[in-house]
This record gives sequence, structure tokens and C-alpha cells, in this order.
Amino acid sequence: MSKVDVLLGLQWGDEGKGKIVDVLTPDYDVIARFQGGPNAGHTLEFNGIKHVLHIIPSGIFHKEKKNVIGNGVLIDPFIFSEEIENLQKRGVDATQNLYISKKAHLILPSHRMLDCANEMAKGRSKIGSTLKGIGPAYTDKIARSGLRVGDILEFDFKEKYELQKIQHLQLAKTLKYDVDSFRVADMTLEEYEAKWFESLNIIKKFNLINSEYFLNDCLKKGMKVLAEGAQGSMLDIDFGSYPFVTSSSTITAGVCSGLGVAPSKIGRVMGITKAYCTRVGAGPFPTELFDDDGEELQNKGNEFGSTTGRPRRCGWIDIPALKYTCMLNGVTELLVTKIDVLNDFEEVKVCEKYSVNGTLTDEIPFEYNSVEVQPQYAKYKGWKVDLKGIESYEALPENLKEYVKTLENLVGVPVKAISISPDRKDVLFK
Ligand code: GDP
Ligand code: IMO
Ligand code: MG
Repeated sequence: MSKVDVLLGLQWGDEGKGKIVDVLTPDYDVIARFQGGPNAGHTLEFNGIKHVLHIIPSGIFHKEKKNVIGNGVLIDPFIFSEEIENLQKRGVDATQNLYISKKAHLILPSHRMLDCANEMAKGRSKIGSTLKGIGPAYTDKIARSGLRVGDILEFDFKEKYELQKIQHLQLAKTLKYDVDSFRVADMTLEEYEAKWFESLNIIKKFNLINSEYFLNDCLKKGMKVLAEGAQGSMLDIDFGSYPFVTSSSTITAGVCSGLGVAPSKIGRVMGITKAYCTRVGAGPFPTELFDDDGEELQNKGNEFGSTTGRPRRCGWIDIPALKYTCMLNGVTELLVTKIDVLNDFEEVKVCEKYSVNGTLTDEIPFEYNSVEVQPQYAKYKGWKVDLKGIESYEALPENLKEYVKTLENLVGVPVKAISISPDRKDVLFK
């Protein structure tokens, strides 16, 4: 009996999960997504190509490996069919090695419309959602009125769909949202709906399964399964900076409910952190920079959203947040990405503690959104070396290795590998 290893983001998303999953895939038989949906944008780069995945697991470029979209994931059939088409253009036929849980919930066109309506109604306190319909679709799931992938095979699917749509339109009216103004890629709700229904025929070509049985059978056979997280732990519905969060359980606990595997079957938990921090959308970000350093992180790190293209907010690494998310996830090893983005800094800062109302702490306060959280920085010497072409951890500059050692000591979890470029080949294992 083998266990499920987990790989997830420890910050506010975009830590480089897609890239690392792709690098680790050769060690696994199955890659499974357990939560989130097309709000995710996971970038893979190899052989001079760059590819962004939203719903499909990041093991898909390895055709001998199985990829599973678990029950905890949300699927927008239209976005899914676009992803399949983009993969086909790269010569990847996913119909053989992609499996979809029949229990995964569907994002309806009217969920996307409601996402816009909700954000508009929130006005200045909007969350900065990716507007992919995530909040409204998970709301219907929890309210027990959602539609699932398996439902598209039923004779009365259209009827159920219409019932949902009527409720969504009523809700939009209550929110005073002008439905006629809604557009997805220049399409009105009706036009989008037509494409959405066409896309159901694409989904039907795939292996639609009870993925909980499938995955547990794989474990019984001793196959190696890797669970791929989306978003980041600081965006978790329970433990993130609520309400500035996503609507799913982004932490290790979400693997159990999002795939149907028991807690006793969780193995290694690999936590990914950037060597600094970014956040897209609204919400607290204590180490955010508004100066030249912030601009340098954004430019060198090319910090623009993979899903929405929005500029990402940038700042120094936040140890209290990392300690918190390592605790929540039971992280057994850290992977540090984008350390090359710090190459040109004279000194690199690390937020080791917070000062909240004049008291030093490394606990995330309940009042995270409202109280002033002042980061307490320690400075470390930069390395000022271009890392291009470095092929082993040992060959890295001493100051960089000191920085990594500092992170390990502060967080209390060993660093397993670091990433020094967007490319698949540039991950250096210790
Ligand atoms: P994910 O959502 O966690 O998969 O991350 P994203 O793909 O949204 O964002 C990470 C971005 O950083 C992508 O553009 C990656 O190509 C890029 N990236 C990943 N690792 C590294 C790295 O080590 N160095 C640099 N410079 N870029 C990286
Ligand atoms: P990956 O998997 C970064 C953010 C949005 C917004 C909040 C809620 O690529 O790391 P939602 O659309 O879920 O209602 O948005 O969460 N967000 C992400 N930020 N990376 C992501 O995914 C994100 N998915 C959602 O910007 O602030
Ligand atoms: Mg991303």
C-alpha cells in the first residue's frame, strides 16, 4: 500500500507549483488535482515552449502517467475544452491518460455571471476574484444544489440546468446586476451558454470515473500518487485572510476530501514558497513593497497573473505566514522557487516577526485584515551572481546557500530543492 504525496503552495498562490509538479512527475504514476478550478494558472516551460494549465493536472505532458481531476475540483466545460484544444496543438492527446471524477462540480455560465455580480455589489471591498465562477459554484455545491460532471450523462440534465439558471438570474436581479452587460471573451451569456453546451460533448469523450475508487485502487497496487494543490494556503477558505480568500480548502486536509483518500494515506507533504512573496487581488499582505525593490521583484520575476494577466503585488518573504502554513499542512520539506529573481539585490530582507499593536509575534492575528501588521525585517547579504548555467546545489553562491539555511532555520523545515529559472531543467536538489 503506498501513500499520496502532496505538493502545494504555502503563500498566496503562483509559487511555481505547475513547474515543480512537471519536474517531479517522472517519480510518480498518477498526478491528481484535488481542489480549485480555472482560477488556477500553472505554468510549465521546457524545450523552449511555455504552457499554462488551468484545470488539467501538470503531469499531462508525460503521456505514460495518469492524470486525475478529483471530486473537489470545479470544471468549466468551455475552459476545459479550450485547454484540451491547446494541448492538441502541442501534440498531446489527453483522452487516454486524463480521468475526471463524476463528482466534480460544474461551473455554469451563470456562475461566472454571478461572480461578476457579487464583485460589483461588494464595490470597494471586492475580493479581486479571477471571475471564473469559483465562489458561486462552490456556494451551490455546499447549498446542495450544484450540478456535477456525472449529471451531464443524465436525460434530465438540461432541465436541472435551466432550474439553476433561473435561480442565478433572480439572484443577479436582487444584486441589481445588468445581465446584458455580462461578457466572456466578447460573448453574451446566451452566446457563452451555446459554446458551453457544445463543450459538454468534449468532456463526454473522457474517462468519467468514481475517482475515489480509482485512486485508492492505485494506492493498493503500490502506485505512486502526487496530489497537486492550486492557489495557496494563505488563500484557504478557513485559514486564509477571510473574506479575501478562495472558496476551497487549499491545504493538505483538502486532499482527503477532494480526492477521497483517508488522512492515514497522506505521505510526504512538499510545500512550495517563492524566495519572496506575491499576491494577486485584494487582502492583507504585510510585507508588500511600494518602492523600487517591489518594482524590481515584479519586473525580474515577471509577476503578472497566469490566468488574468493582472500585475501581482510583490514583497519580501514572510516567515510568520510560512510557519503558519507549514503547521497547517504538516509540511515535511520545502521547495524554494524564483530565487534567481533576487540575484541583483545588494541585500535581501526577511520578515522574521510581526509587530501587532506594539507587540512582537509570529502568530497570524485574527484581525489580519483590519489591524496594522508591521513586518520586522532582518537583512542578509545578496549574492550578486547570475545563476544561469549552474547545475548543482553545491555550485551555488555561498550567500545564497546562507539565505536558504536561514529560511530552513526560521521555518524549521528542511529545503529539498530550489528553482533558478522557469525551465523544467533548472531545479537543483540538495
Ligand atoms: P503556479 O500557479 O504555482 O503554478 O505558478 P504560476 O505558473 O502561476 O507562476 C509562476 C511563474 O514563475 C511562472 O511564470 C513560471 O514560469 C515562473 N517560474 C517558476 N519557477 C521559476 C524560477 O525558479 N525562476 C523564475 N525566474 N521563474 C520561475
Ligand atoms: P494558482 O493555482 C493566485 C486569488 C484571486 C483572488 C482570490 C479569490 O495559479 O496559484 P477566486 O477566483 O478564487 O474567487 O479568487 O484568490 N486567486 C489566486 N491567486 N494564484 C491562484 O491560483 C489563484 N486563484 C485564485 O486573485 O484574490
Ligand atoms: Mg498560478
